[in-house]
Amino acid sequence: MELGDRMLRALLSALGRKGGTRGWAFSSWQSYMPLAGLLSATEVVSHWTAVFEKRGIPEAQASSEYIVAHVLGAKTFQSLRPVLRTQPLSPWQLQHVQKLSHCRLQRMPVQYILGEWDFQGLSLKMAPPVFIPRPETEELVEWVLKEVTQSSCPMGAQGGPLILEVGCGSGAISLSLLSQLPQSRVIAVDKGEAAICLTQENAQRLRLLDRIQIVPLDVTLEGSWSHLLPWGPMDLVISNPPYIFHQDMEQLAPEIRRSIFLEVDPRHPELVGSWLQSRPDLSLDLVAVRKDFCGRPRFLHIRRSGPQCGCLMEA
Ligand SMILES: C[S@@+](CC[C@H](N)C(=O)[O-])C[C@H]1O[C@@H](n2cnc3c(N)ncnc32)[C@H](O)[C@@H]1O
Repeated sequence: MELGDRMLRALLSALGRKGGTRGWAFSSWQSYMPLAGLLSATEVVSHWTAVFEKRGIPEAQASSEYIVAHVLGAKTFQSLRPVLRTQPLSPWQLQHVQKLSHCRLQRMPVQYILGEWDFQGLSLKMAPPVFIPRPETEELVEWVLKEVTQSSCPMGAQGGPLILEVGCGSGAISLSLLSQLPQSRVIAVDKGEAAICLTQENAQRLRLLDRIQIVPLDVTLEGSWSHLLPWGPMDLVISNPPYIFHQDMEQLAPEIRRSIFLEVDPRHPELVGSWLQSRPDLSLDLVAVRKDFCGRPRFLHIRRSGPQCGCLMEA
């Protein structure tokens, strides 16, 4: 995916996070209905872009393009065949665009309006209140994929790693790892019922249910980790948490055979590094910090100290 596209998607994701999910409803407000007539997709995009701009809706053109493309059955406006951009929309299509655009006027994130969003080439269902995956997170997945595929150590009893994702949301991280690591298995946990259901649905849509265990679990609750014991030691833990769970790291440490990969706020790497240094008893090292495509320190690789690979696999 191109950098520009990722940045645009990052902006839309950010917009998605700012508003709550309340107050979004389809409205029958007619005043912005394009004038009756033979309006092409391009003209409808221009119309709604102007309306969004006038109403102070951020990313007015991108929002309008995504909506019109969606109604015409495409992912992006740019990918529409030229003829579809110039031929008149049907009354039903116009009405559908209007309905979705009214949701945008109420600041509903585009991802929720469309009901799906691409992540690592997978089309995932999106629904409030579940977190919309950020384009930055694709970089975290790519880093893990690179580490796993370039690793000289065999992982997992079945030839692939057993991965734990803490806070799976829509399932974006877990499902993209599963789809690109055919031997891997994933335990995906989340405390939110809506997230658990959405990950389940997305796994089913992508036919990945046979290699994923989706567990409703609040990892901050006392004893919660014992629910994961039946699956044995994990090879990797990956998380894009709402914040860093210090106490969870303490509990996780003995269970992890290799690594933790985290997406964090750019202010976190320094704090996490100092904290780990102050806690040698945890035997965890911050071995790498990576920047996202905007140059902000965003991803952490934390590893158990001491002997690597074989010895850790024996643990
Ligand atoms: C920032 S979202 C990330 C979602 C998804 N991994 C992604 O990148 O799109 C964090 C997720 O962690 C979940 N979560 C927050 N606290 C949790 C806890 N104590 N135990 C389990 N899941 C938790 C939230 O419900 C949410 O789905």
